[in-house]
Amino acid sequence: MVIGIHLIYLDQVEIELLRKCQPNLRLKAVFLPIQNQKSKIVSQNSFSFEMSRIANVGVIGAGAMGHGIAQVFAQAGYDVKLNDVSLEFVDKGITRIDGNLARSVAKGRMTDIQKKQVLSKISPTPDLSEFRDRELVVEAALEKIEVKSELFRKLDKICQKDSLLASNTSSIPVTQLAGLVSNSSRVVGMHFFNPVPVMKLVEIVRAIQTSEDTVMKIQEVSSSLDKTAVVVKDSPGFVSNRILCPMINEAIFALEEGVAKREDIDTVMKLGMSHPMGPLELADFVGLDVVLDVLEVLYGEFQDPKYRASPLLRQMVRAGYLGRKSGKGFYEYS
Ligand SMILES: NC(=O)c1ccc[n+]([C@@H]2O[C@H](COP(=O)([O-])OP(=O)(O)OC[C@H]3O[C@@H](n4cnc5c(N)ncnc54)[C@H](O)[C@@H]3O)[C@@H](O)[C@H]2O)c1
Repeated sequence: MVIGIHLIYLDQVEIELLRKCQPNLRLKAVFLPIQNQKSKIVSQNSFSFEMSRIANVGVIGAGAMGHGIAQVFAQAGYDVKLNDVSLEFVDKGITRIDGNLARSVAKGRMTDIQKKQVLSKISPTPDLSEFRDRELVVEAALEKIEVKSELFRKLDKICQKDSLLASNTSSIPVTQLAGLVSNSSRVVGMHFFNPVPVMKLVEIVRAIQTSEDTVMKIQEVSSSLDKTAVVVKDSPGFVSNRILCPMINEAIFALEEGVAKREDIDTVMKLGMSHPMGPLELADFVGLDVVLDVLEVLYGEFQDPKYRASPLLRQMVRAGYLGRKSGKGFYEYS
């Protein structure tokens, strides 16, 4: 049972169980997820529990990742401001969060009241200047260096000098983004995975400027979101995409060379390697354009032919066959 920060999700039965626990076990259950971390005590549902010192978070980008990131922060009790290029885009993100939470209500994982509590934690904010009070900003806008650079320059002017600035980038060097702001020791990569509410990992990317204090705070925040954090160096593709994208690329080469049919390639990896999805299904899920972008970064940075993108992948991206989001990739979606 997940306790700690997620106490607002306990239903009556779980709360009764917790009440019946021996006090020492109860405390252990409540404090375990964030033990050994400096934190303050807050009170909710008549229990006291620990919460990360950071309380105000800003999320930039309300798309596939940003809406999920805003959701998990709100679920963990943070006050969240969600920003996108227009109110319409922010509202679309909030509608997606509403849909995710409605599914949780339908499955009995939370009550309608708890859903409303989570939604009340998120404020739509099309104006980035409203981020001046945010202690942590997580940028999840488009994977374009120009877009992220402009945002980091703006954040440098808007936010307090000690606020933490994190990017959810999949492939852009965090070191480059850190170089754009004063006090670059507070810049870090906070790489969530899709779908954010479900995936347990956060890859914390340490730029060469990132301070130990920043890394520790982000570890603490990740833990409060009930995520497992792994700290990695700011190296192309980090760990996740450096391994994942070449594997997907190899599967596409195998398809292109007629080694096996798409379903068979996926079946080999699912049944033979216990992967929950085959590489071609996963490519469709991630987006073929995203996979190609990452391969280009790996190829460009390492100058190693082993990262050369398969011609079929390039053709499919040119044709607009981007996977689930475009309705067609290696499979068809209606
Ligand atoms: N999709 C994934 O599986 C995945 C996984 C991990 C990390 N990422 C990274 O997360 C980031 C977002 O990816 P996504 O899949 O959510 O993309 P997306 O296209 O679904 O969403 C991006 C959002 O950013 C908004 N945006 C663009 N420019 C902006 C600006 N200047 N200010 C505010 N908002 C702006 C867009 O309007 C859009 O709503 C990228 O850096 C991507 O590499 C994606």
